[in-house]
Amino acid sequence: MPDPSRPTGPRIIAVANQKGGVGKTTTTINLGAALAEIGKRVLIVDLDPQGNASTGLGIDVDDREFTTYELLLEDIDLGQVIQPTKSENLVIIPATVDLSSADIELISNEKRSSLLHDALRQTAMDRYDLDYVLIDCPPSLNLLTVNAMVAAHSVLVPLQSEFFALEGLSQLMLTIREVRQSANPNLRIEGVVLTMFDARNNLSGQVEKDARDNLGDLVFQTLIPRNVRLSEAPSYSMSVLDYDPQSRGADAYRALARELMKNNAPVAA
Ligand SMILES: Nc1ncnc2c1ncn2[C@@H]1O[C@H](COP(=O)(O)OP(=O)(O)OP(=O)(O)O)[C@@H](O)[C@H]1O
Ligand SMILES: [Mg+2]
Repeated sequence: MPDPSRPTGPRIIAVANQKGGVGKTTTTINLGAALAEIGKRVLIVDLDPQGNASTGLGIDVDDREFTTYELLLEDIDLGQVIQPTKSENLVIIPATVDLSSADIELISNEKRSSLLHDALRQTAMDRYDLDYVLIDCPPSLNLLTVNAMVAAHSVLVPLQSEFFALEGLSQLMLTIREVRQSANPNLRIEGVVLTMFDARNNLSGQVEKDARDNLGDLVFQTLIPRNVRLSEAPSYSMSVLDYDPQSRGADAYRALARELMKNNAPVAA
């Protein structure tokens, strides 16, 4: 019997912002871990040649024989690319620097924008019984990011609470609109989450106000504080929920997971 609460398989969310260092990977790892802690089954797809999500979750480079690159460009079964993490409910498809050439190799491919979409809709996905797929995008609006947007139900945008945070957002929105028009008319914006928020800094408050004035309900109520535990956790190959479960960073990502689930809860008839 199909589970009536999950009629269409996992919810696929692209975590994207072409600006570098805004908290995409930190959000992917820790939101994923927080959803897993609640009991949801989560797959993280590392779609960044930097491979930061893979490293942060403890996948050794030597253990990345089959990666997102093979998933996109070779005929490979999901079972060969999906790897376990320390958390039972959290699995990952790792990436290596090989992926940096994929962007070029994809250009000549007729299906260049929909390879990830097709890969994630293999019937083999069913056996993982996933609730969420989070795609960690590279800091670029290249073909890899377009693949994520074509594959996804929604885009989650981390926004660093600093000056110029909103710059570049119109470019990102334009890309989302183009993907809607060409390949994925139902693509939604999951929300914009303010990261590295510093309540003692007036600038953070100003960025929050600007974001809420401009984007309204798209901005998550949850704010992710600047918290050193969040930056330390990846060097111990752990999410912050494992590294320091009581930290403010861990609590913030738990709150974000609950808010996201609430936003996605089916509306009672
Ligand atoms: N809330 C936070 N508090 C403190 N440090 C943070 C926080 N979020 C992210 N960082 C740190 O900021 C840096 C950039 O974060 P992260 O790697 O998540 O960004 P990114 O958008 O994925 O970067 P890239 O564009 O290079 O992929 C990292 O060193 C990370 O540990
Ligand atoms: Mg990253």
